[in-house]
Amino acid sequence: MKIVGLSGSLRSESYNTALLRAAKETVSDRIDMQIFTLHDIPLYDGDVETNQGIPWRVNELKKELINSDGLLIVTPEYNHSLPGVLKNAIDWLSRPPKDIKSVFGNRPVALIGASPSGFGTILAQEAWLPVIRTLGMKPWFGNSLHVSHADKVFDKAGKMTDSDYTLQLQQFMQGFVGFINKETAKPVREKEEMAKEQREPLHQ
Ligand SMILES: Cc1cc2nc3c(=O)[nH]c(=O)nc-3n(C[C@H](O)[C@H](O)[C@H](O)COP(=O)(O)O)c2cc1C
Repeated sequence: MKIVGLSGSLRSESYNTALLRAAKETVSDRIDMQIFTLHDIPLYDGDVETNQGIPWRVNELKKELINSDGLLIVTPEYNHSLPGVLKNAIDWLSRPPKDIKSVFGNRPVALIGASPSGFGTILAQEAWLPVIRTLGMKPWFGNSLHVSHADKVFDKAGKMTDSDYTLQLQQFMQGFVGFINKETAKPVREKEEMAKEQREPLHQ
Protein backbone atom coordinates (compact mmCIF):
# COMPACT_ATOMS: atom_id res chain seq x y z
CA MET A 1 0.00 0.00 0.00
CA LYS A 2 1.22 3.45 -0.85
CA ILE A 3 0.01 6.60 0.94
CA VAL A 4 0.89 10.11 -0.15
CA GLY A 5 1.16 12.45 2.84
CA LEU A 6 0.95 16.12 1.97
CA SER A 7 1.76 18.81 4.50
CA GLY A 8 0.21 22.19 3.81
CA SER A 9 3.01 24.22 5.33
CA LEU A 10 6.31 25.47 3.95
CA ARG A 11 7.67 26.35 7.37
CA SER A 12 10.83 24.47 8.36
CA GLU A 13 9.52 24.02 11.91
CA SER A 14 5.95 23.35 10.82
CA TYR A 15 3.72 21.57 13.34
CA ASN A 16 1.79 20.07 10.44
CA THR A 17 4.87 18.58 8.80
CA ALA A 18 5.88 17.28 12.24
CA LEU A 19 2.41 15.73 12.57
CA LEU A 20 2.79 14.09 9.16
CA ARG A 21 6.16 12.64 10.19
CA ALA A 22 4.58 11.34 13.38
CA ALA A 23 1.75 9.79 11.31
CA LYS A 24 4.30 7.96 9.17
CA GLU A 25 5.95 6.57 12.30
CA THR A 26 2.69 4.98 13.42
CA VAL A 27 2.18 2.88 10.27
CA SER A 28 3.79 -0.47 9.57
CA ASP A 29 6.98 -0.69 7.49
CA ARG A 30 4.98 -2.57 4.87
CA ILE A 31 3.16 0.67 4.07
CA ASP A 32 5.01 2.97 1.73
CA MET A 33 4.08 6.35 3.19
CA GLN A 34 5.81 9.29 1.61
CA ILE A 35 6.01 12.81 2.93
CA PHE A 36 5.57 15.75 0.59
CA THR A 37 5.57 19.48 1.22
CA LEU A 38 4.66 22.41 -0.99
CA HIS A 39 8.18 23.47 -1.91
CA ASP A 40 8.81 24.21 -5.61
CA ILE A 41 5.12 24.57 -6.45
CA PRO A 42 4.61 28.00 -8.05
CA LEU A 43 1.46 30.09 -7.80
CA TYR A 44 -1.20 28.87 -10.20
CA ASP A 45 -1.10 31.00 -13.34
CA GLY A 46 -3.26 30.14 -16.35
CA ASP A 47 -0.74 31.80 -18.66
CA VAL A 48 2.06 29.58 -17.37
CA GLU A 49 -0.19 26.55 -17.88
CA THR A 50 -1.01 27.59 -21.45
CA ASN A 51 2.47 28.64 -22.50
CA GLN A 52 4.77 26.40 -20.48
CA GLY A 53 2.54 23.55 -19.33
CA ILE A 54 2.24 21.99 -15.90
CA PRO A 55 5.27 22.75 -13.67
CA TRP A 56 7.67 19.81 -13.14
CA ARG A 57 6.99 19.54 -9.41
CA VAL A 58 3.25 19.42 -9.95
CA ASN A 59 3.70 16.68 -12.57
CA GLU A 60 5.86 14.73 -10.12
CA LEU A 61 3.21 14.96 -7.43
CA LYS A 62 0.48 14.01 -9.89
CA LYS A 63 2.42 10.83 -10.71
CA GLU A 64 2.85 10.05 -7.01
CA LEU A 65 -0.89 10.42 -6.48
CA ILE A 66 -1.82 8.32 -9.51
CA ASN A 67 0.41 5.53 -8.17
CA SER A 68 -0.94 5.82 -4.62
CA ASP A 69 -3.75 4.10 -2.76
CA GLY A 70 -4.62 7.09 -0.59
CA LEU A 71 -3.89 10.68 0.31
CA LEU A 72 -3.41 12.10 3.80
CA ILE A 73 -3.82 15.89 3.82
CA VAL A 74 -2.25 17.57 6.85
CA THR A 75 -3.69 21.03 6.89
CA PRO A 76 -2.85 24.16 8.84
CA GLU A 77 -5.69 26.61 9.50
CA TYR A 78 -5.47 30.19 8.29
CA ASN A 79 -8.15 32.73 9.20
CA HIS A 80 -10.63 30.01 10.10
CA SER A 81 -10.26 28.33 6.73
CA LEU A 82 -7.86 26.35 4.58
CA PRO A 83 -4.40 27.76 3.77
CA GLY A 84 -4.09 29.33 0.32
CA VAL A 85 -0.70 27.72 -0.32
CA LEU A 86 -2.14 24.23 0.05
CA LYS A 87 -5.24 25.08 -2.00
CA ASN A 88 -2.90 26.42 -4.68
CA ALA A 89 -1.11 23.06 -4.82
CA ILE A 90 -4.37 21.13 -5.08
CA ASP A 91 -5.55 23.54 -7.78
CA TRP A 92 -2.42 22.87 -9.84
CA LEU A 93 -2.82 19.13 -9.27
CA SER A 94 -6.36 19.39 -10.69
CA ARG A 95 -5.04 20.61 -14.05
CA PRO A 96 -5.85 19.79 -16.76
CA PRO A 97 -9.42 18.75 -15.82
CA LYS A 98 -9.17 15.57 -17.91
CA ASP A 99 -6.62 14.25 -15.37
CA ILE A 100 -8.82 14.82 -12.30
CA LYS A 101 -10.27 11.31 -12.47
CA SER A 102 -6.89 9.59 -12.52
CA VAL A 103 -5.25 11.89 -9.95
CA PHE A 104 -8.11 12.26 -7.47
CA GLY A 105 -11.15 10.21 -8.57
CA ASN A 106 -12.31 7.74 -5.91
CA ARG A 107 -8.98 8.10 -4.11
CA PRO A 108 -9.31 7.54 -0.36
CA VAL A 109 -8.44 10.73 1.49
CA ALA A 110 -8.22 11.73 5.15
CA LEU A 111 -7.60 15.04 6.86
CA ILE A 112 -5.69 15.89 10.00
CA GLY A 113 -4.11 19.12 11.18
CA ALA A 114 -2.28 20.92 13.98
CA SER A 115 -2.52 24.42 15.35
CA PRO A 116 -1.21 26.25 18.41
CA SER A 117 -4.77 27.39 19.10
CA GLY A 118 -7.34 25.46 21.12
CA PHE A 119 -9.37 24.36 18.09
CA GLY A 120 -6.79 22.30 16.22
CA THR A 121 -7.78 23.12 12.59
CA ILE A 122 -11.46 22.14 12.92
CA LEU A 123 -12.53 24.92 10.57
CA ALA A 124 -9.75 24.27 8.05
CA GLN A 125 -10.69 20.60 7.88
CA GLU A 126 -14.34 21.52 7.31
CA ALA A 127 -13.33 23.99 4.60
CA TRP A 128 -11.60 21.22 2.63
CA LEU A 129 -14.80 19.20 2.24
CA PRO A 130 -16.24 20.99 -0.83
CA VAL A 131 -12.86 20.67 -2.56
CA ILE A 132 -12.67 16.95 -1.80
CA ARG A 133 -16.22 16.47 -3.06
CA THR A 134 -15.57 18.46 -6.24
CA LEU A 135 -12.53 16.35 -7.06
CA GLY A 136 -14.54 13.14 -6.57
CA MET A 137 -12.36 11.74 -3.79
CA LYS A 138 -13.43 9.17 -1.19
CA PRO A 139 -13.15 10.87 2.22
CA TRP A 140 -12.75 8.75 5.33
CA PHE A 141 -14.78 10.10 8.24
CA GLY A 142 -14.36 7.15 10.58
CA ASN A 143 -12.27 9.16 13.02
CA SER A 144 -10.97 12.71 13.35
CA LEU A 145 -7.80 14.33 14.64
CA HIS A 146 -7.48 18.00 15.53
CA VAL A 147 -4.18 18.65 17.26
CA SER A 148 -4.59 21.79 19.36
CA HIS A 149 -1.95 23.60 21.47
CA ALA A 150 0.58 22.17 19.02
CA ASP A 151 3.38 24.17 20.66
CA LYS A 152 3.06 21.79 23.63
CA VAL A 153 2.60 18.60 21.60
CA PHE A 154 5.95 18.52 19.78
CA ASP A 155 9.45 19.02 21.13
CA LYS A 156 12.04 21.37 19.63
CA ALA A 157 13.11 18.69 17.14
CA GLY A 158 9.50 18.31 15.94
CA LYS A 159 8.93 14.97 17.64
CA MET A 160 5.47 14.31 19.03
CA THR A 161 5.86 14.02 22.79
CA ASP A 162 2.21 14.03 23.88
CA SER A 163 1.11 10.46 24.64
CA ASP A 164 -2.64 11.15 24.21
CA TYR A 165 -2.18 12.54 20.73
CA THR A 166 0.28 9.76 19.87
CA LEU A 167 -2.42 7.22 20.70
CA GLN A 168 -5.09 9.17 18.81
CA LEU A 169 -2.81 9.39 15.79
CA GLN A 170 -2.11 5.64 15.91
CA GLN A 171 -5.83 4.92 16.03
CA PHE A 172 -6.53 7.40 13.25
CA MET A 173 -3.91 5.90 10.93
CA GLN A 174 -5.02 2.35 11.72
CA GLY A 175 -8.58 3.32 10.75
CA PHE A 176 -7.50 5.08 7.58
CA VAL A 177 -5.30 2.17 6.48
CA GLY A 178 -8.25 -0.18 7.10
CA PHE A 179 -10.46 2.05 4.96
CA ILE A 180 -7.89 2.08 2.13
CA ASN A 181 -7.61 -1.71 2.34
CA LYS A 182 -11.38 -2.04 1.98
CA GLU A 183 -11.47 0.38 -0.94
CA THR A 184 -8.58 -1.22 -2.80
CA ALA A 185 -10.10 -4.68 -2.28
CA LYS A 186 -13.25 -3.69 -4.19
CA PRO A 187 -13.64 -5.71 -7.39
CA VAL A 188 -12.42 -4.04 -10.58
CA ARG A 189 -15.91 -3.95 -12.12
CA GLU A 190 -17.33 -2.11 -9.09
CA LYS A 191 -14.52 0.45 -9.35
CA GLU A 192 -15.18 0.93 -13.07
CA GLU A 193 -18.86 1.51 -12.34
CA MET A 194 -17.97 4.08 -9.67
CA ALA A 195 -15.62 5.85 -12.05
CA LYS A 196 -18.36 5.98 -14.70
CA GLU A 197 -20.85 7.39 -12.23
CA GLN A 198 -18.47 10.11 -11.18
CA ARG A 199 -19.64 13.28 -12.81
CA GLU A 200 -17.48 15.12 -15.29
CA PRO A 201 -15.74 18.23 -13.92
CA LEU A 202 -17.91 21.33 -14.32
CA HIS A 203 -14.98 23.55 -15.18
CA GLN A 204 -12.40 23.49 -17.94
C1 LIG B 1 -2.27 34.12 8.09
C2 LIG B 1 -2.44 33.23 9.28
C3 LIG B 1 -3.70 33.00 9.77
C4 LIG B 1 -3.88 32.13 10.84
N1 LIG B 1 -5.13 31.82 11.24
C5 LIG B 1 -5.32 30.84 12.16
C6 LIG B 1 -6.63 30.37 12.47
O1 LIG B 1 -7.63 30.83 11.94
N2 LIG B 1 -6.76 29.37 13.37
C7 LIG B 1 -5.68 28.80 13.98
O2 LIG B 1 -5.86 27.90 14.76
N3 LIG B 1 -4.41 29.23 13.72
C8 LIG B 1 -4.22 30.24 12.82
N4 LIG B 1 -2.96 30.65 12.50
C9 LIG B 1 -1.84 30.12 13.26
C10 LIG B 1 -1.34 28.83 12.63
O3 LIG B 1 -2.13 27.77 13.12
C11 LIG B 1 0.12 28.63 13.01
O4 LIG B 1 0.90 29.63 12.39
C12 LIG B 1 0.64 27.27 12.65
O5 LIG B 1 1.91 27.11 13.26
C13 LIG B 1 0.74 27.07 11.14
O6 LIG B 1 1.03 25.73 10.83
P1 LIG B 1 2.55 25.20 10.67
O7 LIG B 1 3.16 25.19 12.05
O8 LIG B 1 2.37 23.82 10.14
O9 LIG B 1 3.28 26.10 9.73
C14 LIG B 1 -2.75 31.54 11.46
C15 LIG B 1 -1.48 31.82 10.97
C16 LIG B 1 -1.31 32.64 9.89
C17 LIG B 1 0.07 32.89 9.35
